[in-house]
Amino acid sequence: MKETTRVLIPEDRIEERIKELGRQISQDYAGKQIHLIGILKGSIFFMCELAKHITIPVTMDFMSVSSYGSGTRTTGVVKLIKDLDEPIEGKHVLVVEDIIDSGYTLSYLLKNLSSRHPASIRLCTLLDKPERREVDVDVDYQGFRIPDEFVIGYGLDYDQRYRNLPYVGVLSLTEE
Ligand code: IMP
Ligand code: MG
Repeated sequence: MKETTRVLIPEDRIEERIKELGRQISQDYAGKQIHLIGILKGSIFFMCELAKHITIPVTMDFMSVSSYGSGTRTTGVVKLIKDLDEPIEGKHVLVVEDIIDSGYTLSYLLKNLSSRHPASIRLCTLLDKPERREVDVDVDYQGFRIPDEFVIGYGLDYDQRYRNLPYVGVLSLTEE
């Protein structure tokens, strides 16, 4: 199979949008300290860029999960691979994710994290594919809504590759 990519969202638009999100978050949480929780590995590029544009005090932690599924379909069964290093009780948690697709991963994570008694919990995603949603998830901050296409870059992978592309692209697989 031949893999080809085309740019969906160029780097300068992503950076501009992340700047706006950082400004918005800094205003909304004014006077507070925010605890960012990045979901590995897809969110790391987004999280780094976002954190640079937040002007209130920030702490960070990371978590890793995997969704079980047959092929490309998720079944809603999510496995915790790496838990947080620190407790989140009493903290203002902002979960940072790369993309919301079916919503299963986030719905599991938000339930799991809420049970640890944070002061508040909100969700910030770079990309959202609302057409694909199977379970409802409240998205507080969203970078871009995208159509139902498989995207790579800016942290997102296909078979662990392409995460380092500086833009968000659409991947097509064609017979050689
Ligand atoms: P959900 O549980 O279906 O919402 O799955 C979300 C996870 O699936 C994301 O955190 C990504 O890791 C992965 N994912 C969903 N759509 C894409 C895509 O278009 N490209 C790359 N990874 C994706
Ligand atoms: Mg992910």
